Amino acid sequence: MSQIETTATAVLPSMDFQVDVDQCNACGLCTRDCPMGIIEGNPPRVDPEKEIRCVRCQHCLAICPTGAISLEGRKASDSLPLTTGDLPSLDQIDLLIRSRRSIRQYQNKDVDPELLRRLLNVSAYAPTGVNARALTFTVIDRKRRMADFREQVFAALTKHAARIPDRLQFLASAPTAYAEHGIDILFRTAPHLIIASAPTSAPCGQVDVPIALAAFELLAVSAGLGTVWCGLLKAVLETLPELKTHLDMPVEGIHYYPMLFGHPAVEYARTVQRDGAAIVNRLS
Ligand SMILES: Cc1cc2nc3c(=O)[nH]c(=O)nc-3n(C[C@H](O)[C@H](O)[C@H](O)COP(=O)(O)O)c2cc1C
Repeated sequence: MSQIETTATAVLPSMDFQVDVDQCNACGLCTRDCPMGIIEGNPPRVDPEKEIRCVRCQHCLAICPTGAISLEGRKASDSLPLTTGDLPSLDQIDLLIRSRRSIRQYQNKDVDPELLRRLLNVSAYAPTGVNARALTFTVIDRKRRMADFREQVFAALTKHAARIPDRLQFLASAPTAYAEHGIDILFRTAPHLIIASAPTSAPCGQVDVPIALAAFELLAVSAGLGTVWCGLLKAVLETLPELKTHLDMPVEGIHYYPMLFGHPAVEYARTVQRDGAAIVNRLS
């Protein structure tokens, strides 16, 4: 199991806003795009007293057409260049979103650790409120460890059946269904689990968590993997919070959500049909 934390805001490094005056063309884009309005002057500068308001979004570094700006020691030349036409097309993303399915049958093999590292790294690019970046990704990255966790959860469900609320009573039979028939209604035989979490003190932690998981999910699908959001495991962890200690997670003070993933053992021949599935209130 591994825990990957995105840059926490608690101890912010110095902003270290630097402008290469030879490259700066005084276009003013950085000043206009700064969400906190703290970049001023020509060449652009940040008053040291205003540095505390910087949310480290790096828009100034990203928007500068000549790459003149660095901050927090990050140079523009270390960013990926963006050119019109580089991004996936609307048709490609449309197909990605329509074709993504909840996967409930998995191959019994681990995901390549390098691929997983990449998916987690890029998932941390998802937006967080006030750019807090206070997310933790707790990942069971080995199927052997996943089997241990399943055992721990099933043992707890058996031992504490009386604590399971009525609406979740069907989960009391999950350990037997798995032991006797190999049917895994809780973990869906997935070899891996990711739990995204954020402290309740983060400005928008409750929203940051599913946003990051949604990014992870689409990345995973584009890499040929499958995922399923696991509300049932969330319910189990809420009912028996002590199980979180098996995941090295704090028992309280976090927003979190689990997602299972791995190599799918099933292929879908076509998309489902959900055109018009959401109510759209157009206020024109
Ligand atoms: C927040 C959330 C929680 C979910 N929890 C579970 C779960 O515990 N077990 C499960 O098999 N599927 C779970 N699902 C999957 C949904 O049932 C699934 O998304 C829905 O039926 C639509 O199917 P699709 O994802 O293949 O489009 C969950 C989905 C979401 C978004």
